[in-house]
Amino acid sequence: MEKKNIDWANLGFGYIQTDYRFVSNYKNGAWDDGILTEDANVVINECAGVLQYAQTVFEGMKAYTTVDGRIVTFRPDLNGERLEQSAARLEMPIFPKDKFVEAVIKTIKANEAYVPPYGSGATLYVRPYMFGSNPVIGVKPADEYQFRIFTTPVGPYFKGGVKPLTIRVSDFDRAAPNGTGHIKAGLNYAMSLHAIVDAHKQGFDENMYLDAKTRTKVEETGGANFLFVTKDGKVVTPKSSSILPSITRRSLVQVAKEYLGLEAEEREVYLDELKDFAECGLCGTAAVISPVGKVVDHGKEICFPSGMTEMGPVTKKLYETLTGIQMGTIKAPEGWVVEIK
Ligand code: PLP
Ligand code: COI
Repeated sequence: MEKKNIDWANLGFGYIQTDYRFVSNYKNGAWDDGILTEDANVVINECAGVLQYAQTVFEGMKAYTTVDGRIVTFRPDLNGERLEQSAARLEMPIFPKDKFVEAVIKTIKANEAYVPPYGSGATLYVRPYMFGSNPVIGVKPADEYQFRIFTTPVGPYFKGGVKPLTIRVSDFDRAAPNGTGHIKAGLNYAMSLHAIVDAHKQGFDENMYLDAKTRTKVEETGGANFLFVTKDGKVVTPKSSSILPSITRRSLVQVAKEYLGLEAEEREVYLDELKDFAECGLCGTAAVISPVGKVVDHGKEICFPSGMTEMGPVTKKLYETLTGIQMGTIKAPEGWVVEIK
């Protein structure tokens, strides 16, 4: 199979239309079998639930080419599980996780020509999503839904690749204590748009959101969880019921313990303690692990000892081990890497 003529090494994190997408419709209480289609457009009624009341949830995952030329994806069962939880919270029907994994594999396979080659620095981003598709005008859940998966080849989420980021403590909140921060709903991202545009205007790469109730604890950024390393080499990740349970973060904690022999702890992290950490990173499917060099809290700079030129040593080891597992140079724990082809 011939690859598309794409400048893989210089891809940013953007949308490039690929050949096939998966579409399944939910009507009269049941999902149909779904099809692969070449039509990238969605045609829905002007009053569709998603357009009026933002009834939509999504996932983000990637397909990789391994060192020996196989195409694989990473822990798709966990994305399927999380989509089920997201859908339940927004009163949407469950797209069963086994069918989800099957559809993901089918869609990646159909777009094989767009899976970037090993070593290019790029990957195929996979975006499953679901939305209320029939007209809804009173505030209530839709009766009909569409589940789709498209793919797009991507490079690094942050421009500059692995150059440490500067982020600011945001005055805007991302998620309420009993709200929807723990699910992957479009509404969480819509409300972060003003904050990210403003952060960029002020020269920051991202926002650090605090817990909305006390504004003393670190939550996450608009699109990734935090990971910290203490001065004695322990990995610490923030615990909160209003952050997205990142699959990358959960995997990194296991990698830290089982591959690198590090201690790892999930606990509440106070803004006050940032100055005591040696390293900081953002982790997620899109972000992979992006190092943070500096956090700015209303003019006060908190500079991590790892500095502004490269990743800290522990972050780097975690990055290399995780990407090694994903690209097949390091043996993966059972079930983490699912072969497409
Ligand atoms: N937090 C938010 C808000 C996200 O959008 C993402 C991306 O999916 C993550 C964390 C990281 O999650 P994962 O590692 O499952 O991609
Ligand atoms: C992902 O990492 O898959 C996400 O959905 C985050 C988004 C900011 C691109």
